[in-house]
Amino acid sequence: MAERGKFIVFEGIDGSGKTTQARILKERLEKAGKKVFLTVEPTSGEAGTLLRRCLRGEADLPEEAISGLFMTDRIDHIKDPKDGILVHLAKGEWVISDRYYFSSYAYNSMYSPMDWVISINSLARDLLKPDLTFYLDISPELFNERTRSRGTTERYEDTEVLRTVRENYFRSFALFPDEKVEVVDNCSGIEETADKVYAILSEHFGL
Ligand code: TYD
Repeated sequence: MAERGKFIVFEGIDGSGKTTQARILKERLEKAGKKVFLTVEPTSGEAGTLLRRCLRGEADLPEEAISGLFMTDRIDHIKDPKDGILVHLAKGEWVISDRYYFSSYAYNSMYSPMDWVISINSLARDLLKPDLTFYLDISPELFNERTRSRGTTERYEDTEVLRTVRENYFRSFALFPDEKVEVVDNCSGIEETADKVYAILSEHFGL
């Protein structure tokens, strides 16, 4: 049986650059000979599709129900028998996920107590903890600029909201000292950040 792959997560507020960095890391790992599965939450599964409709304002559910849907989508993401994260890891692939449970702690606890958000996600944490989480940190000024230039208007993309989300991320990291979280400043160039990410990864896993 193949040696289990590593599970790497990128976290950050909207506009933090995690999607770009996840893609670059995939390319770099592939160059290093790894097989890599790049994935994202919300997923394109049943719960994820409904979630994206809620995020675009096309469907309306109470905030607690949305938090529950993120959890449901996450369990599907982990356990889907064909394409779930566990299936890929078991084949020896490295899995890179753009968002995972820290996103729920940071975003969904704007509307409900963080304790509750953490507790409804406990099954996901029991099933699968990341081997390493990168938190890409950007300054409030930069996220304002980046989200404005993308012209996006999704529900969480207001500057004040994102400030709160950023605080929630750090609050939740402090609650889980056993989680391996690396905070990487992403205020400079894309390549510079990609180099930092790869150096940290190499340190952790001896690439
Ligand atoms: P995002 O990465 O911004 O996707 P896109 O670039 O396609 O817009 O993620 C979608 C939104 O979902 C984002 O604003 C954060 C939110 N979210 C939560 O509120 N809770 C969660 O558990 C996850 C995974 C995401």
